[in-house]
Amino acid sequence: MRGQSHLSVLLRPLTAVDLPKVVTLEGDLFGMSAWSGVMLAEELDGPGRWYVAADLPAEPASRAERLVGYAGLWFDGDDAQVMTIAVASSQQGRGIGGALLAALVRRAKDVGARSVLLEVRVDNLAALALYERFGFQRLGLRRGYYQPENIDAWTMRLALPGQEQAQPAVGASLRQGRNASELRAGRP
Ligand SMILES: CC(C)(COP(=O)(O)OP(=O)(O)OC[C@H]1O[C@@H](n2cnc3c(N)ncnc32)[C@H](O)[C@@H]1OP(=O)(O)O)[C@@H](O)C(=O)NCCC(=O)NCCS
Repeated sequence: MRGQSHLSVLLRPLTAVDLPKVVTLEGDLFGMSAWSGVMLAEELDGPGRWYVAADLPAEPASRAERLVGYAGLWFDGDDAQVMTIAVASSQQGRGIGGALLAALVRRAKDVGARSVLLEVRVDNLAALALYERFGFQRLGLRRGYYQPENIDAWTMRLALPGQEQAQPAVGASLRQGRNASELRAGRP
């Protein structure tokens, strides 16, 4: 879906009412790594979490039909971690992922995070392109981070101007765990 014109979306908080649609999108987009409704509900209620939804502006559509993307952040008091970011396949390449990521970065700045951290599959070229466009830099490689697929992840970091610029040690400030099902490691 690359090269389509950019689309304006409305950003709003993601809530428990949205979870059935999010579970459907999870299955479409993440396959074996999809988060369940229970995991998502725990995420929405988790400490330091902030989740945002992207809606198409089309009024006549139902709430579920309008919801085409979502993203989440965890602020632990020092750094912010991108927990997930996702856009419905039919709407990718139209700037919605960029709008969601911009909202996460804004939030991280607002809460005073030093940096935004994330992990991304080494073969996820669209996500890598998006993160690099925002200035994220590769910190290191986590071998076999995504299981059971056994795919490596890049850890990436965006330093936030005006905040303390201490460089976290890879594997220390980044969340522990192999994937989202363990200790809520960020999936991206
Ligand atoms: C990653 C994701 C959120 C991006 O959302 P999106 O709405 O398509 O993002 P945008 O349209 O804002 O930008 C995508 C960028 O990737 C580029 N891109 C898309 N497919 C690409 C590919 N195969 N190779 C390289 N770049 C690609 C686009 O051209 C665009 O860059 P540009 O703005 O410089 O042109 C979306 O692809 C997605 O949901 N993927 C499935 C779930 C996922 O992998 N989430 C991230 C986990 S780390």
